[in-house]
Amino acid sequence: MAKSIAIYNNKGGVGKTTLSLFLSDFLSSITINKKKSKVLVMDFDPQASCANAVLGIEKVSEIINNSLTIPYILNAKLNQKKEIDISRFIFTREENNSTETKKTRLGNLDVMVSEPNLALSFDEKVSLKDSLKLARWMSNELAAEYDFIFVDLPGSISKVNKFSLVGAFLADNYVIPTEPNRLNVNALSGTLNMLDNIRTWKGRSSGYNLLGFVLNKADKRAKQFIAHKDDLNQFAKHKNCKIYKNVLPPTPKLSDASDDSMQFITLSDRYDSYYDNVRKLVIEITADLGFTKS
Ligand SMILES: Nc1ncnc2c1ncn2[C@@H]1O[C@H](COP(=O)(O)OP(=O)(O)OP(=O)(O)O)[C@@H](O)[C@H]1O
Ligand SMILES: [Mg+2]
Repeated sequence: MAKSIAIYNNKGGVGKTTLSLFLSDFLSSITINKKKSKVLVMDFDPQASCANAVLGIEKVSEIINNSLTIPYILNAKLNQKKEIDISRFIFTREENNSTETKKTRLGNLDVMVSEPNLALSFDEKVSLKDSLKLARWMSNELAAEYDFIFVDLPGSISKVNKFSLVGAFLADNYVIPTEPNRLNVNALSGTLNMLDNIRTWKGRSSGYNLLGFVLNKADKRAKQFIAHKDDLNQFAKHKNCKIYKNVLPPTPKLSDASDDSMQFITLSDRYDSYYDNVRKLVIEITADLGFTKS
């Protein structure tokens, strides 16, 4: 039964896509509970940046041209005339075995792709109730197939973003990447309010677990980090969630990691000297979901 985790912050550019990629990259590659995990990453940001980072821009364009995107299947399900085969909408970044290496290869990672135009028309014609129904359907179709399902959400979600809300409804767990500075701390209450709304719309009996905040572009010795740590702690205490001890440092290397024009075969190629930072953070988050590194 899959653990589903949405990566959300109402603020743009804080590392939602980066964290979605890092989590799915590591968990599809390393051994956990003595086996490789089956991982799906779902792009619920109409911009499709996570899918681009995993599959490359050419493959994503082909998928969009062939109408094999998430908004397409959601529309098809709404107007259902015949049985819908969700597996046709899932694409795999396959492990590359072309060269010898002792390092950990990037593993098989499944991806579902988004696209802006259909997502927008979906937003316009669908009700919140439909979004919820479609989220339940998708979750039922996928849960048995995976260990982890990650949902990359856009910033600035509101009641009108019915497409992205399907992704938000589909997840049982939420992680908020944020940066330890004034602008980000100020934006957090908007994000937490929106998560409260999502919980209300989902209904009491639905899964809802705010795991915590991941500090991105964070330097523990920087003045800003020290100045805003207390504010962040207040938010975490108020929401009864944690601030993950392991942080992502600010570095161009971690920005390059999501650049699809670069060819990566192993985790070390992609993460270089930041391999350990990312690995420790991924393991810290998944330990909260009952998965331990073997
Ligand atoms: N730790 C880091 N160090 C340096 N650059 C980073 C780091 N994390 C993310 N970035 C860069 O910051 C930019 C924003 O990151 P990202 O796209 O992951 O944010 P986002 O929250 O998904 O944005 P959006 O709201 O537009 O979807 C990207 O160019 C990314 O490569
Ligand atoms: Mg993003």
